[in-house]
Amino acid sequence: MEYSKLWLDYKRGECSGFDRIYYNSDDRCVVSAARELQSAIGEMSGIYPELAERRELTDENGIWLLCGKNDGKYYDLNMQSYKIEEKDGSIIVASYGAAGVLYGAFALIRKMRLGETELTEEKTPSNPLRMLNHWDNPDGSIERGYSGNSFFFKDGEIIINERTRDYARLIASVGINAVVINNVNVKDEALYFITDRYFGKIRGIADIFADYGIRLFLSANYASPIDIGPLDTADPCDERVREWWRNKAAEIYRALPDLGGFLIKADSEGRPGPFTYGRSQDAGANMLADALEEFGGIVIWRCFVYNCRQDWRDRKTDRAQACYDNFINSDAHFAPNVILQIKNGPVDFQVREPVNPLIGAMSFTNQMMEFQIAQEYTGQQRDLCYLIPYFKEILDFKMCRHPDCDTVADYVSGKAFGNRLCGVCAVTNTGNDYNWTGHDLAAANLYGFGRLAFDNDLSAEKIAGEWIEQTYGGNTLVMEIVSDMLMRSHAVYEKYTAPLGVGWMIEPADHYGPNPDGFEYSRWGTYHYADREGVGVDRTIAGTGYANQYAKPLAQMYGNVDSCPDNLLLFFHHLPYSHVLKNGKTMIQHIYDTHFEGVKDVREFIRLWRKLESVIDDGVYRRVKERLLMQLDNSVEWCDIINSYFYRKSGAKDEKGRRIY
Ligand code: GCU
Repeated sequence: MEYSKLWLDYKRGECSGFDRIYYNSDDRCVVSAARELQSAIGEMSGIYPELAERRELTDENGIWLLCGKNDGKYYDLNMQSYKIEEKDGSIIVASYGAAGVLYGAFALIRKMRLGETELTEEKTPSNPLRMLNHWDNPDGSIERGYSGNSFFFKDGEIIINERTRDYARLIASVGINAVVINNVNVKDEALYFITDRYFGKIRGIADIFADYGIRLFLSANYASPIDIGPLDTADPCDERVREWWRNKAAEIYRALPDLGGFLIKADSEGRPGPFTYGRSQDAGANMLADALEEFGGIVIWRCFVYNCRQDWRDRKTDRAQACYDNFINSDAHFAPNVILQIKNGPVDFQVREPVNPLIGAMSFTNQMMEFQIAQEYTGQQRDLCYLIPYFKEILDFKMCRHPDCDTVADYVSGKAFGNRLCGVCAVTNTGNDYNWTGHDLAAANLYGFGRLAFDNDLSAEKIAGEWIEQTYGGNTLVMEIVSDMLMRSHAVYEKYTAPLGVGWMIEPADHYGPNPDGFEYSRWGTYHYADREGVGVDRTIAGTGYANQYAKPLAQMYGNVDSCPDNLLLFFHHLPYSHVLKNGKTMIQHIYDTHFEGVKDVREFIRLWRKLESVIDDGVYRRVKERLLMQLDNSVEWCDIINSYFYRKSGAKDEKGRRIY
């Protein structure tokens, strides 16, 4: 096998046999559900059940897959909800829609494998959209990809093979229902994905996805009318541009009737957008939305709009403010088929950032949260960093904007304001490596993101446990050790990298490894202002004023040194090294201690992992051990560089007399 089956590696003995699977609909998702159950049960029990079509439920014993009317809108939660029941010796999986039947079938398989005796369950997904964003380029490279090359593209061609289907199976099994197959930075050959040069093959992928209830989306270049031609403008208010997109949409949907729509990165990091023409973000988004509307298409418009050509001497401009400032005044301006895609923090996927203040601030606008599981700034799938506890913390966070229904999850799911098109997405972490995710244990982020997106109530620990058991079997030692490592890993990564929420301090070239002044005098707007007195960014009213973008209770909490949580202290305040933290330590001592501790924790991971030699599969053991050794080198480098940096700035000695350079 060229690639791992990940958590869909069914093991003999995980369930007992069933003779029959009945299904009442020939919808492709229902048929996929029946086949998935058949092969899963076959592989686990040794007996492959027969499939039989029945229009109505009868008293024949078996597993019944029952699909209702299946006539709602694609993202309706009803269509995606399911119910599992045990009745007179049969198991019934029922849903109003075909996708719901598929999720129910995968849930049943999971329950059998996890040995759950209670099969009865009713579930409605927490989020209408549960999406993965690939940053894959047509040449096969992946922007911020750390697990090989693309399995969608190679040398300008689209690849369709068994792996495409297995990918769809994997992500559908955790409830993903939308995938953007190409990079948000749409350049070169990718420009032509919306032309007939690529329609045939893209349709091929879309068809496979449709078998698993997944909608394919494309990233498109905002300036396509110029770059594909023949226009010399992309001004959203120019009638020629509007017509160009209307004709383009008609052409695309003739060839790709199931296309979900476009993901757009405009006015961001050199990408063109409406600002180029003095127009607003909503003017740009709505122009595209208008073109797609007739075909049921959606425009997902990224809010990662900021000036990346800042002058480091300018102390007023604060990149963290840009997202909110660029969008907050356009609530109610966006068309109903536009969704704003908002990064979880105001800057860029750092190991710790406050929640983006735009979340929940616009009641009439569809919004979705953008996470990143690619670990660009969190160890790049070389260092272990299970992100689900952090995502969970973010989703559970209260924005203090409403008396009830106020968590980030309430806003991004659409629950708070009753918006229909909302949800979560993640910049994904897959590539064509054997193990899909570079680090074997990084697959827990892929699995976990899907599970959490489907069910916000699951704990990070429960998700980790499910993933471990389905991937490696239920050996107690494996379960205990891997779960412990995963659950601690985000905190460990946070300990040995940039301290107390200040972020960055990474190598600018590849965003891996320490370089405390790497971005300090650069144009990217990501500074920490360390000098001999102190470090951190004053984002209070006296400083850049960013803290005021939050509702009052949060603005006050962050704006005050005493109430600001320590893990975000330097994100909001510039403080002297002698500042005493809530744990009673001076800031400088805390920096020294956490960095030494982080390295110690990684050594502990290695010690724990060694216990699994000859308990876990040899290949897995070897690959993970290699990664942990790389992580140890990285953590030592971070620890020594960060500690030396702050020691040299502050001149403050380590109370414990450890070696600092
Ligand atoms: C980060 C990342 C880029 C990416 C950008 C984005 O800045 O480093 O590679 O293009 O985010 O989200 O658009």
